[in-house]
Amino acid sequence: MTGFTRFDWNPVYPVHDMTSKEDHYRQLAAHLSSLLAGERDLTANAANFSSLVYHSLPDLNWAGFYFAKDGELVLGPFQGQPACVRIRIGQGVCGAGAAKCETVIVPNVHEFPGHIACDSASQSEIVVPLMKGSQLLGVLDLDSPVPSRFDDQDARGLENLVRILLSSVLSVP
Ligand code: SME
Repeated sequence: MTGFTRFDWNPVYPVHDMTSKEDHYRQLAAHLSSLLAGERDLTANAANFSSLVYHSLPDLNWAGFYFAKDGELVLGPFQGQPACVRIRIGQGVCGAGAAKCETVIVPNVHEFPGHIACDSASQSEIVVPLMKGSQLLGVLDLDSPVPSRFDDQDARGLENLVRILLSSVLSVP
């Protein structure tokens, strides 16, 4: 996918047809920075992050966070259908991203061993780890009803958005 072709009108965050994906992520980063400015609470900022991303990026059916607590991932703020609350590190796509401390792109969730199906509409998924140095704080998880929805541009764009979130709540991101 080289650009977004769907006109996704949102009165607060308009995204116009033919905006390149790179431009879209640049605009999203600017919106996120101003949305989070002046607030250091992780839950509040993760909640607004989820809403902004869910309503701004096309073809998503779930966008949200799992936070690392006592050696497992626990559901945090999200948009979409209700989801499983606890995920073991190494389990499913979220657990794989957490175990590797790397972004994981899954073009077809049905081919991913151990995928946890929270919404039967999900066809593809991306997980981005939240890192404070070498410490895992959690993961960002996005699901799409479209197969192969996420590519390297999404990975770089979302990693940058996660950096903005972490720098809003951590003194040393
Ligand atoms: N599919 C994820 C579980 C979380 S939901 O998609 C919200 C996984 O396999 O880890």
